[in-house]
Amino acid sequence: MIHLSSDTGDLFTQAFQFAQKQVKKFIEKNPGVYPLYTQNGRWLHEGPAWTHWCDGFLPGMMWIFHDHTDRDSTESKYWLDQAIKYTTPLEPRKLDRDVQDHGFLFLSTYYRWYRVSKDPALREVLIEAGRTLALRFKEKGQYLRSFVADNSLFLDIMMNVGIIFYAARETGDRRLREVALRHSFTTRRVLVRGDGSTAQEGIFDTDTGEFLRQTTHQGYRGDSCWSRGLAWALYGFTTCYEYSRDPHFIETAEQCADFYIMHCASDGIPPWDFNAPPENRTLLDTSAAAVSAAGLLRLCRLVPDSLKGHLYWTTAVQILRSLCDKHLAKSDPKWEGILKGGVYHVHKSLGVDESVMWGEYFFCEALDRVLR
Ligand code: GLY
Repeated sequence: MIHLSSDTGDLFTQAFQFAQKQVKKFIEKNPGVYPLYTQNGRWLHEGPAWTHWCDGFLPGMMWIFHDHTDRDSTESKYWLDQAIKYTTPLEPRKLDRDVQDHGFLFLSTYYRWYRVSKDPALREVLIEAGRTLALRFKEKGQYLRSFVADNSLFLDIMMNVGIIFYAARETGDRRLREVALRHSFTTRRVLVRGDGSTAQEGIFDTDTGEFLRQTTHQGYRGDSCWSRGLAWALYGFTTCYEYSRDPHFIETAEQCADFYIMHCASDGIPPWDFNAPPENRTLLDTSAAAVSAAGLLRLCRLVPDSLKGHLYWTTAVQILRSLCDKHLAKSDPKWEGILKGGVYHVHKSLGVDESVMWGEYFFCEALDRVLR
C-alpha cells in the first residue's frame, strides 16, 4: 500500500482529534445518552428513532479511540473507562428479537472489547447475539427476515450477518454458518443487480418462498440505488468474504465498489440516492461515503488484483480527504456532530443533512485504519 503524504496524514490526524473532542464534549454534557441523528446540529431532541439499531456506535467510537491511543496514556484509560461504561448496558440486547441489527450493536462494541480483554464472558455475549439474529431465518425464501415483516429482506442485514459467521466459527455450529451463507447468497441474488447497483428491500411470497420484487424504504424508489444501501453491501459482502472465503462474495463486493466509484463525483461523496431526480440529487449522504471508505479499506487488502486494490485504497483516501476538507463540522462551534451532511430517512424527514451516528462511527473506523 502507498503511504499518505504528510499533508494528508496531518489532515486525518486533526480530524481524528476533532472527533474525539466532539464525543468527549457530548458525553460530558449528556452522560448515558445514546443519540442517533442531530436536528440542526444538536443530538438531543424528540425526533423518533424509527428502529433501535444505533446504540453500538457511540461506544464503538470510544473503543476505536482507546485502541488508537498509546495504551499507557491517561487518554487511553479515559476512553477505556467510557467505552466499558457505555458498552455494558447493551448486553440485554443480545436477546432482542425486535431488531435485525446485532452486528451493528455488538461488532462495534463487545467484539472490540473482547479483542482488548480476551474475557471469555464477552465472547459468550457475541455468540448469543449471533444466535438471536439467526432466529430470523426463513426456510422458505432462505433469508433473515427484516424488522418490518416476515416477507421482507433488507440489504442492511448484510452488515449484521458477520456476527452469525462469528458465532458459527467460535462454536463450530455448522447450522449457524449455513444460515449466514444462505442469507448472503439470497441477498446477492435478489438485491444486487448485474451492474453492481443494489435495492434496499426484497419482498417474498411467504407461502412458497418465491422472490417477488425489489422495493425500498429509504431510497428514492424500488428500482433506484440508495447510496447507503450500496455502501452497506460493499462493506457487508467484504465481511462475508472474510469469514467464508467464498469467491462469489468478493466478486459482489467488488461489483458494488466499482458501481460506487463509477457513479460518484470525483470527490467520492455520493448523492443520497444515485437515481434521485436532478433537483434532489444535490442532497448528499456523507454517511454513505464514510461507510464506503471504511469498506474499501478492508476490501483493498483482499482483492487478488493489486491494481484494483490500489484503486480502492486511493478512492478511500480521496473520500476521507473530501469529508475532512468539506464536511467536517469544525468551523461551526455550535454543531455537536463530527460530520455534517448525513442522511437518515428522507421520506420520513428524519436526520436529513445532519450528523448521523453511524456516519461518525465509520468515519472514525476509516480514519483509524488509514492512519495505522
Ligand atoms: N436502516 C439502516 C440505515 O438507515 O442505513
